[in-house]
Amino acid sequence: MRELGGEENRDLIGADMVGPSEVGVGPWQGELPDDPRLDPELLVSGDRRNVVDKYRYWTLEAIVADLDLQRNPFHVAIENWQHDLNIGSVVRTANAFLAAEVHIVGNRKWNRRGAMVTDRYQHVRHHPRLEDLASYAAERQLPVIGIDNLPGSVPLETYELPAACVLLFGQEGPGLTADAHAICTDVLSIAQFGSTRSINASAAAAIALHAWIRRHTFGQKP
Ligand SMILES: C[S@@+](CC[C@H](N)C(=O)[O-])C[C@H]1O[C@@H](n2cnc3c(N)ncnc32)[C@H](O)[C@@H]1O
Repeated sequence: MRELGGEENRDLIGADMVGPSEVGVGPWQGELPDDPRLDPELLVSGDRRNVVDKYRYWTLEAIVADLDLQRNPFHVAIENWQHDLNIGSVVRTANAFLAAEVHIVGNRKWNRRGAMVTDRYQHVRHHPRLEDLASYAAERQLPVIGIDNLPGSVPLETYELPAACVLLFGQEGPGLTADAHAICTDVLSIAQFGSTRSINASAAAAIALHAWIRRHTFGQKP
C-alpha cells in the first residue's frame, strides 16, 4: 500500500517549520498571484518549510506533482524490524537524490524524526515481508541490490550500478538479514580503511545513493 509520508495527523504549517524563523519567506507582499500551485494559507502566513526556494508558497500536492515529473528510476528499501533511528535520515537522503520510491520492509511504524518532514514529498511504500518487496521488484524488472559489507560482497566503487534498481539497506545492528541477502542480485560493500566494522547505516545510504547520482546523473564510469 503506497502512501504520501504521514500527513493525516499533522497540521501542515506547524510541523514543517525547520531551523531559525528567517528560513523561508514571510507573507506575500502585494496583489496575490493567480497560480493554482500556490497555497492561499502560505501566501498569507509565509512559508518556513524545509523546501527549496523554487517551491516557496507551493501546495504540498503541487510540489509532489512536480517532483514526480523528475524522479530518478532507483528505489530505496530499508529493513525495519527494530525501529532503527536511521530510517528517517535515509528517507531524507532519498528525497534529496529524488528516489522513485522508498520501501519500508517489516514494521510499518518508523521514527520520522530524522526525515525532517521530507517523507511528505516522497512516495513511501510499506511491505510487511521481504517476499513482498521481492515480488514488487520482480514485477517491475528491478534488480534488488543489497548494500552491506558481508562475506561475498563486491565493491560499490567498481560496480556498474544499473539505473533502475532497488538499493536495499540493513539495520544499524544486525545489518542485512539472511532473507534480505537471499533476494539480492548482488551485495555491495563500501570500502573502509580504519578499525570500525562498519559505518552508520544512513551514512552508507548517502554514499550509495550518491554513487548512483555520480554514475547516472554525471555519467561518471565506476
Ligand atoms: C552498521 S551496519 C551493521 C552491519 C555490518 N555488516 C556490520 O557487520 O557491522 C548497518 C547497515 O549499514 C550499511 N553499511 C554500513 N557499513 C557499510 C559498508 N562498509 N559497506 C556497505 N554497507 C554498509 C549496510 O546497509 C548495513 O546493513
